[in-house]
Amino acid sequence: MTDTVTSYDQVPYSFYSFPETHPRRLHAVAHLLGLEAPAPAECRVLELGCAVGGNIVPMAYSLPEAKFTGIDLVASQIDTAQRFAAASGVKNLELRAASITDVTPQWGQFDYIIAHGVFSWIPHEVAEKVLQICAEQLTPNGLAYISFNTYPGWHVRMWAREAMRFHAEQFAEPIQKAAAGRDFIMALAQSPFTAALLKGEVQYLQGRSESYILHEYLESMNQPFYFRDFAARIAKQGLQYLGDAVQNGMIAAESWPPFSSWMEANRDDLIRQEQYVDFVRNREFRRALICPGSLTLDRTRMLERAETMQATALLMVLVSARASDMKRSMPTISATPATGRSGITVSVATSATKPLPVTPAAPLEVSSIRPSIAAI
Ligand SMILES: C[S@@+](CC[C@H](N)C(=O)[O-])C[C@H]1O[C@@H](n2cnc3c(N)ncnc32)[C@H](O)[C@@H]1O
Repeated sequence: MTDTVTSYDQVPYSFYSFPETHPRRLHAVAHLLGLEAPAPAECRVLELGCAVGGNIVPMAYSLPEAKFTGIDLVASQIDTAQRFAAASGVKNLELRAASITDVTPQWGQFDYIIAHGVFSWIPHEVAEKVLQICAEQLTPNGLAYISFNTYPGWHVRMWAREAMRFHAEQFAEPIQKAAAGRDFIMALAQSPFTAALLKGEVQYLQGRSESYILHEYLESMNQPFYFRDFAARIAKQGLQYLGDAVQNGMIAAESWPPFSSWMEANRDDLIRQEQYVDFVRNREFRRALICPGSLTLDRTRMLERAETMQATALLMVLVSARASDMKRSMPTISATPATGRSGITVSVATSATKPLPVTPAAPLEVSSIRPSIAAI
């Protein structure tokens, strides 16, 4: 039995779901970035390392005409996923206890291949196999989602991981290891020598379950990559980087002159631009979208494409009658009507003094008709 199987058998992963991996969301983001990916309603999806099914079971439930396959190395986790699927009445999902290395072209072609929280946790040759599966088994305009830990942000987290692993090695029981590791970091964060270094880690660790800490920090395998190296690896397999599944931070730094000058100097090199962004943001995690290298992508018409899209939103208005609540800083939602043809601007502000002023506005209307959608 491998270390991985033992570790997840002892402490299974929790049920996490990641909306950014849903085919509808992937399809929408791909559209913005210039790729017309397969229609989600009847697509074929493969999730690698699906653990207990927290992500794949709800996705299969929400797209009953699509076909889903999920695999995980750890049979006990697949058992749990199967029970979850059965209890939810999900029938369009095949779950297999198998290794990524067992996947063959006979499994067929997939429109969407998802590997969340897997690529950094597997040996190099298995990670290469993930890329090979994407290269050989994506449909011609298919899309893969591969998340991974990345440098430079993971340098500090690696420091924390190594300290935690060192301190926790004296404990045998996994949950005890996780708790001891976390307590060690919390204690170090009080020291004048390491307080500044560990500030972000303390925030990140706050409220995390022992199961998460164990698998995020203490697994024997955890390999972050620079984005630039990841991009070179996928290119070798005949794949290309489309964009990130969530807004990647370029926009936030856009008005900072040094950043603009680096972007301008590298305007013909997306990979270098993205690597600059990672240094500027000290990014530690990426959710890369990947497609066949043979596709020609036009990333220049994002705003025009947005105008062809529809929006759905779930916004909550918090109203409290209690005066004491009014004294606290409360969120207010206001909307700026679209100027010209495109865009709804939503700003979330806080006010310490005023009660909740809610402007009847487009975002709230969109939210009120959810799950229906509105044209922008
Ligand atoms: C950190 S967990 C992430 C689980 C899930 N994708 C998520 O993000 O919530 C990594 C998962 O990859 C699985 N795994 C590791 N090596 C694997 C392999 N060779 N083949 C299939 N699954 C593997 C583990 O069993 C574990 O469930």
